[in-house]
Amino acid sequence: MTAQDELRPTLTTEAGAPVADNQNTETAGTGGPALIQDQLLFEKLAHFNRERIPERVVHARGAAAYGTFTVTGDVTAYTRAAFLSEVGKETETFLRFSTVAGNLGSADAVRDPRGFALKFYTEEGNYDLVGNNTPVFFIKDAIKFPDFIHTQKRDPYTGSQEADNVWDFWGLSPEATHQVTWLFGDRGIPASYRHLDGFGSHTYQWQNEAGEHFWVKYHFKTDQGIKNLTSEEAAVLAGTDPDSHQRDLRESIERGEFPSWTVSVQIMPAADAATYRFNPFDLTKVWPHADYPLVEFGKLELNRNPDNVFAEVEQSIFSPSHFVPGIGPSPDKMLQGRLFAYADAHRYRVGINADHLPVNRPHATEALTNSRDGHLYDGRHGRRKNYEPNSFGGPVETGRPLWAATAVTGTTGSTEAPSHSEDDDFVQAGNLYRLFGEDEKARLIGNLAGFIAKVSADRDDIVERAVENFRRADADYGRRLEAAVRELRKQK
Ligand code: HEM
Repeated sequence: MTAQDELRPTLTTEAGAPVADNQNTETAGTGGPALIQDQLLFEKLAHFNRERIPERVVHARGAAAYGTFTVTGDVTAYTRAAFLSEVGKETETFLRFSTVAGNLGSADAVRDPRGFALKFYTEEGNYDLVGNNTPVFFIKDAIKFPDFIHTQKRDPYTGSQEADNVWDFWGLSPEATHQVTWLFGDRGIPASYRHLDGFGSHTYQWQNEAGEHFWVKYHFKTDQGIKNLTSEEAAVLAGTDPDSHQRDLRESIERGEFPSWTVSVQIMPAADAATYRFNPFDLTKVWPHADYPLVEFGKLELNRNPDNVFAEVEQSIFSPSHFVPGIGPSPDKMLQGRLFAYADAHRYRVGINADHLPVNRPHATEALTNSRDGHLYDGRHGRRKNYEPNSFGGPVETGRPLWAATAVTGTTGSTEAPSHSEDDDFVQAGNLYRLFGEDEKARLIGNLAGFIAKVSADRDDIVERAVENFRRADADYGRRLEAAVRELRKQK
């Protein structure tokens, strides 16, 4: 042992006893079998076997950072959320970016939406806005989500993602045409997590101090500018540097180059919703800015890396059901499903006390519930009573709902969301296609055709249904795609 080694702390077992030898297993005789009394060996192997928790069923692959949200515009006429109550007010945040379909160890540079899951540690509890880098989504009813994700993930027989499954589902789900057009366009593969926009995507409710409510959509515009990769650039990067986005985010923060986003909302007065030209709660549609312009109200900056990826990123939990006073859900059927799905996933994936972990618990207030115990409960409530009502000075309810009540009419039933005057599954997909320049259109067709052409040779019906949706969005779009797919399938 050197003089310097003597200054170092002693390695211990889990129970804190000093470790004498961390190199050699204790054996019966030199070179003999291991002894059961070598508890260090068993403790290490047993702990190692339990190092993983289930990965997220979607969005398994991701990276995150802490940051600061600063109010830059007065929105108190629309929401009474305390963290938005004053221009200049700052709130700590945690933002996790992710891809959707890939497993935990998959590459970053792939064509896939990027998750944009943001936690605001507010003084009224944590507010989670669990969005994506796209303003819309593939489907509009939560009951289709497990089927949709099954087509994106590995086939039960081949164990790989299959073009047959992806295009079969999309061909039979015309509402996906808008999001698919977005995904196969230039923004489908961001160059890094810093160079993408974020969206709350769903419509949410804001309620002001007077009790009036509004429907809002959140937009986070990257101050770094949008930068994307072509399919060819991404294929090389994904192979040579699978951690490209994760490292880029960490290193930019280490360098003091803090990425930031300008935060806005579109605000719809509640009375407009019934007659707006699109169903404002349909996640496959945007609200054109000409109808509802962006109202800027904040700046988000990421400025601190997590110290421990497992503790703070893998075990982090975000739920669309985590609201604070003045903010609530809309009747969007996708959002309604998500209000259940996330907290349920957390109980399974991280455990019933997931919200006690440092990254997940409120930082600007204290959670005061009567829920107790369960796996890995840390005894935080001490001797406090665990029921309500009580006459021992325990916490009490406020009597004021977090968000405004909304009127409902009609009968129960498994019905489609109501269509508004300009609603169909293709109108906004066609508008997006026509917005693209000629170069982007050519890349879009190439990207789509390359994937559709992979459908099995004896399943032309899947190809035809897929192409038909793009044809219905725009005749030129359909014609060019059909020709490109036919050419590629001839070469197969
Ligand atoms: C009904 C539709 C949906 C269901 C049932 C659903 C379900 C889930 C589940 C179970 C997880 C894993 C949660 C965990 O283990 O911590 C997840 C993650 C995620 N979802 Fe969804 N999802 C849906 C739609 C969406 C939509 C529309 C968006 C974006 C607008 C979205 C964004 C995300 C993000 C960003 C994550 C990763 C959160 C994180 O970083 O921990 N999801 N989703």
